[in-house]
Formats: sequence, C-alpha cells, structure tokens
Amino acid sequence: MERELADFTEREKFEDRRKAYYDYLEWLKQQNIAIEDFLHNSTAFIGDKQIHRMLTVYELYKQTIGLAGHIAEIGVFKGAGSLFFAKLVKIFEPEAFTIVHGFDWFCGKSSNESKNAMISYNSDYEKVIELIDRQSLGGILKIHKINIINECESFFEKSPQLKFKLVFFDIASYEVMKIAIPLFWEHLLPGGIMVFDHYSLQTSPGETIALSEILPNAVIRTIPNSWTPNAYIVKGEI
Ligand SMILES: C[S@@+](CC[C@H](N)C(=O)[O-])C[C@H]1O[C@@H](n2cnc3c(N)ncnc32)[C@H](O)[C@@H]1O
Repeated sequence: MERELADFTEREKFEDRRKAYYDYLEWLKQQNIAIEDFLHNSTAFIGDKQIHRMLTVYELYKQTIGLAGHIAEIGVFKGAGSLFFAKLVKIFEPEAFTIVHGFDWFCGKSSNESKNAMISYNSDYEKVIELIDRQSLGGILKIHKINIINECESFFEKSPQLKFKLVFFDIASYEVMKIAIPLFWEHLLPGGIMVFDHYSLQTSPGETIALSEILPNAVIRTIPNSWTPNAYIVKGEI
C-alpha cells in the first residue's frame, strides 16, 4: 500500500547509520571510561553529528561578532546549547557585556510537539544552574525559568531594553513558536539573526508553520549541509 507523505519522517533518511551508532554507544558504555579521559579527549568519543552541530552554531555566532546585542536560546533542556554559547562569548568577547539568555520551563515538551516520541526533554533547572555556577559562567549566562506561552510577554514588558543579535529557537511546539517568534523578533536588532533548529522537518512541523504565518516573506538561509540547526533569517533582509 502506498504511504502518505505524512507517514515519512526524516529519521528514515539516516536509518542505515543508526545501528552502527547505537552499537558503538553500547560498546562505549562498557568501557568504563574515566570522566577526565572523556572530557579531555571528547572529540575522540563524540559523534561527527555532535561536532557538526557545534561547528554550525559557531559559524552562525561568528556572523554576529561585531554586532551589538545579546544572545537568546529558547529551549535550554540540559544546557548544551546555552553553555556552548556562553563559552563562545567567554572566548571571543571576554571584555564585552554580551550575555546569553536561556529560556525554558524545564517541564519537557508540550503535548503533540513532535513525532519523535523517544525524547521527553525533561530536565532539571537546579542541575543546569549548578553546572553554570561550577564553571563560573553565571556572569555570562542567565537562565529564565518561564513558560513561553503565558509568561514571555510580561518578561519583555519588564525588560524592554533587552536587545539580541542572535536568537536561537529550539522548541518544536507550534503554540510556543507562534507566541515567541513575534516577541523575540521585536527584540532582535537589525542585522541580527534568528536561527531555527529544525526548519521544514516532517517530525516537528510547528516551527515551520508558525514561521511561515508570522514572517511569510522572510528570506530563509541555511548553512550548507547542516543537520541542525538548519535555517536562519537575517533581520533587515525582508
Ligand atoms: C529540544 S529541547 C532544547 C534543546 C537544547 N537547545 C539543546 O541544544 O540541548 C526543547 C526544550 O523546550 C522546552 N519547552 C517546551 N515547551 C516550553 C514552553 N512552553 N516554555 C518554555 N520552554 C518550553 C522543553 O522543556 C525543552 O527543554
């Protein structure tokens, strides 16, 4: 029987790689690698996909060096993205006032957010804060524990001066994106970039649908061959 387009997901495109990766992961778990070994030689262990994501984020961040404004990540989870941005700021803007603002309610994904039911995206706010403090990054990275849907507007009412040069969206929910895109767009400076983690993905269409409703004429750019994030808009190009 012929399948509907809606039944296909991007996961299938890389199905042939999946077994080898999970076999490797199982093998790695058995190796009892010391945490110091893992951290100090991390590129020996982590996958090329993880490295690819870091390089893409770095390329996007690089485009904003020289622009005024702060950085926002919407969807913090365990802190991988926000802490990475904080470390980029520490490396490239050590004397500037640039701050990274991470937004998350720390309650996991909303219902019907994504077809990828394997991940709940539950995480622990206190653990993320401790991770930031233990690495002395509290001066660069601020985490805002809010529900974007009903608290984001009042957050910006209290902080009208907050302006961003880079806004990174990593929440699949249409309901969240519909509220968040206009609010963060208003606070994005001209020349700044709005980044989308999984534009045009069948598994999580909310981001794409909200974007096309709110900014239908936006020129949507990509970093060639990037996995995720995979789209960005430069404010001023529309
Ligand atoms: C895909 S994860 C973010 C991953 C993270 N950017 C990274 O690189 O590891 C999505 C996050 O969105 C958060 N989230 C979902 N709905 C939300 C809402 N209504 N308000 C705030 N955060 C929300 C979830 O708690 C989850 O941590």
